[in-house]
Amino acid sequence: TGYILAAATTHISGISEQDESQFCRADFGAEFKWGVATAAYQIEGAVNTDGRGDCIWDTFAKRKGKIKLGQNATEACDFYHRYESDLQLVKELGFKQFRFSISWSRILPQGTGTVNEAGILFYNNLINKCLELGIEPWITLYHWDLPQALENRGGWMNRDIVSWFSEYTAVCAKAFGDRVRCWIVLNEPMAVAGLGYTTGLHAPGKKGIWNFLPVMHHLALCQAESGRILRAEVTNAYIGTAVSCSYVYPNSSSAADVRAAKRADALMNRLFVEPALGLGYPVDAFPFLAKVKRYMQPGDLEKLRFDFDFIGLQNYFSVVVKHSYLAPVLWLKEVPAILRNVPVTSMGWEIDPDGMFKILKQFAAYPGVRDIIVSENGAAFEDIRREDKVDDPDRTVYFQQYLKAILRARKEGIKVKGYFAWTLMDNFEWAEGYLARFGLVFVDFKTQQRIVKSSGRWFSRFLKS
Ligand code: NOJ
Repeated sequence: TGYILAAATTHISGISEQDESQFCRADFGAEFKWGVATAAYQIEGAVNTDGRGDCIWDTFAKRKGKIKLGQNATEACDFYHRYESDLQLVKELGFKQFRFSISWSRILPQGTGTVNEAGILFYNNLINKCLELGIEPWITLYHWDLPQALENRGGWMNRDIVSWFSEYTAVCAKAFGDRVRCWIVLNEPMAVAGLGYTTGLHAPGKKGIWNFLPVMHHLALCQAESGRILRAEVTNAYIGTAVSCSYVYPNSSSAADVRAAKRADALMNRLFVEPALGLGYPVDAFPFLAKVKRYMQPGDLEKLRFDFDFIGLQNYFSVVVKHSYLAPVLWLKEVPAILRNVPVTSMGWEIDPDGMFKILKQFAAYPGVRDIIVSENGAAFEDIRREDKVDDPDRTVYFQQYLKAILRARKEGIKVKGYFAWTLMDNFEWAEGYLARFGLVFVDFKTQQRIVKSSGRWFSRFLKS
């Protein structure tokens, strides 16, 4: 990976780290929202504290070989006990929005039924602390940590999840809706269906192509239904859902590669936004999806619709795909960035700010899409810590390049209204454990010491400029 980092450094030195003259905060306009994003399971720790029930990641992390180095998130960043000082840090860095997710099993330890008041209290304290510091709280309802009790009843494979998720949404809306205006229903549903239930790389670790369609459909139903509940319960709510997306390039101009790119695009970019817009699933580009019919009930097409105030767009990299006879169902393969001699992060993800611009444009082209919020963007690099200093020039350049791409989009009239950096601090990166560090703030996981990285200092100067 030392080699990868070196390659990345040479390639992304287009703008020098010192050069802040090319753009400044004011260019984005006074209304533009600047935030950092986090997720409950990745930062909270305290998994057995104050009546929290198990979630699927607690179970998954106990299975051999599922998380790198056998790591787990029982402590993570200990945010559950350190949220006050961490929010202070958010404020000092100059961010005015804080995105966090709610742990479903802290609120409803069994997934449904009895509410755990201690869980409500924790998020109330967190929200109140944000408000006290002048930070706007953004709630994500589902960031991958399904209560284990619900997985035992089939989890996302079971259509009953629509009523389970509705109950959970209503509890949160009633408890927090008096102070929280901004809500994100789902975080990257494609990862849930693809990694959680199809390849099994994420919790609950279920494998099989036939799981994909019911899980996809139940997620899409929940997405819209939860939106409707929030609309009814929260006055003046600003409601969105967050999708992962990557601009897809075909490997060649051959018809087969172009069709493969369209299939990948349907899966990676269109799958969850189009049903919400009333367009159904993108079967035109990927006919396999038509088989979802067997999980659909009369009236479902209408139930999939919800008029979101914004779409949360999460973009980290672009992909290049080619047709392949070796991959049944998809009939395509990704051409890995590392083989294409392009700049990559330590995840091996291609750094392509132009791809951010292109994907923003693609989403903005839907007449039904209102605002776009970049609800996550960021990069893992191998940060070098020297005593109490962490220098991560690659990350600074990454942010600068992606922000410039977003600015270009805004200048072309694209309604991108906010940006959330992933992430406030290094944390539990799912199956990668603690090896992949994405934070603006370095975390020493032995001592829980926080050190603002040079990228964090750059961002803060940028926000205060
Ligand atoms: C998207 C996910 O929402 C987040 O949880 C994850 O840490 C980042 N991508 C980086 O992989």
